[in-house]
Amino acid sequence: MDMRKTDLPCDDEAKLQYDYIEKAKKYVKTESERLGRPLFASVITFGCQMNARDSEKLAGILEQTGYRLTDSEEDADFVIYNTCTVRDNANQRVFGRLGYLNSMKKKKPHLKIALCGCMMQEDAVIEKIKKSYRFVDLIFGTHNLYKFAQLFVTMFENASVEGLSKEDRKKAGGSPMVIDIWQETDRIVEDLPVSRKYSYKSGINIMFGCNNFCSYCIVPYVRGRERSREPREILREIERLAADGVVEIMLLGQNVNSYGKNLSVPFTFAQLLREVERIDGIRRIRFMTSHPKDLSDELIQVMKESSKICHHLHLPLQSGSDRILHKMNRRYTKEQYLTLVRKIREAVPDIAITTDIIVGFPGETMEDVDETIDVVKQAAFDNAFTFIYSKRTGTPAAAMENQVPEEVVRPAFDKLLKVVQDTAKERALLLQGKVMEALVEEINEQDASLVTGRLSNNMLVHFPGDASDIGKLMMVSLDECHGFYYTGQRK
Ligand code: SAH
Ligand code: SF4
Ligand code: F3S
Repeated sequence: MDMRKTDLPCDDEAKLQYDYIEKAKKYVKTESERLGRPLFASVITFGCQMNARDSEKLAGILEQTGYRLTDSEEDADFVIYNTCTVRDNANQRVFGRLGYLNSMKKKKPHLKIALCGCMMQEDAVIEKIKKSYRFVDLIFGTHNLYKFAQLFVTMFENASVEGLSKEDRKKAGGSPMVIDIWQETDRIVEDLPVSRKYSYKSGINIMFGCNNFCSYCIVPYVRGRERSREPREILREIERLAADGVVEIMLLGQNVNSYGKNLSVPFTFAQLLREVERIDGIRRIRFMTSHPKDLSDELIQVMKESSKICHHLHLPLQSGSDRILHKMNRRYTKEQYLTLVRKIREAVPDIAITTDIIVGFPGETMEDVDETIDVVKQAAFDNAFTFIYSKRTGTPAAAMENQVPEEVVRPAFDKLLKVVQDTAKERALLLQGKVMEALVEEINEQDASLVTGRLSNNMLVHFPGDASDIGKLMMVSLDECHGFYYTGQRK
């Protein structure tokens, strides 16, 4: 059943959604009484930090309706996959796991399954699910996530149409699936519930969507046009988080450097950072992601002056070849990128710079990859995420000639990866023997006598500690380098 969007003002829309949460509570209560136990929900995130934050919003609504949250899909009565489609393997993972959910639903017929997120914004995906994955109960997209409570109620209403057998439903025009996908939105609905994964740190959306249209990338098509939140809303949210014990925040957007351009009163990202810096209780500020073409001198200055902005910058390079950068529509050259890196390192000498690189873009040759390798060496990246180009239907690059077969990409990819790893190790070694501040994130997964802390530069250090240390900042010596992380002692 497709539902029409409403045109209520955003505040009223939020109120409406709270009404739906009340309605949803009744369904959860009835179902829980029927089963004689509490109901569990599991939100599984694929993709980036923005999706992770969206999952926290879904979890917030689920908790309000009466579900208990669990990480285990097996224990869940409601499973939600928040999907990613940036590369084809992200889609394949979802389809693979859907087969498993189907077998679970056969054993547990009351199991509800919802799919949302970026992958659901693709027509071909929806068609495939309608055809081959009819056991899915609810599908929605990225633009109407705030309506989750309402969709949830519709899903239950739909499922409980009395006396309607599977066959009757088919006759009546289709499946009991609730599908609501919007192509675009200009609205930002504030103040809906959120259930944070971590008590001491949190992501905060400062903007949604992307206007850059890098030629390989599907994100602008599935996340829509760039929209910034009002600074006062962002600051209010951070103040609340700080009051709730959050010490580290990460400001999220596909291109944070273009924050604020479309606000009625323009406001720059650097200005926003200055305001966030003033909030008591917040000890560390991070942000993701910076596009090199928009990184301003004003931002470098703010980073230099700040005592809270972490000494880590993720600055996706994508390619070091001017020819490929041009075809990628990245709008900077190799030399401009390197100049930017030099400027940043001069202003903040101990900063860690990390990057994303794509290998195998249409028409890319080994000479192009050598240019990329040259940038990796010159920029001395502290780490780099390297990806094999994945053709995304509908993007300009998908229609380009000279798509490179995977067997040709492999050797170039391996050559690059080796340089990336060697460079990262060299960079990591520079910290040997230093004492630095770490925020304790969790008990070490392998050794429960250790805790894992994150340094300002985003590197991890493992040292003796216990659960009472989680969320605390402490000085730690970096005694032994293990490539990408350290072991040490509290000082
Ligand atoms: N907004 C961010 C990136 C979001 S996607 C930015 O511009 O930096 C995260 C990374 O996925 C990108 O930096 C890019 O390296 C990679 N990526 C995006 N589309 C891809 C594709 N079609 N194939 C392979 N990697 C891709
Ligand atoms: Fe994709 Fe480019 Fe936008 Fe990043 S800036 S999300 S790579 S289009
Ligand atoms: Fe994936 Fe969507 Fe993020 S496509 S990378 S989850 S914006």
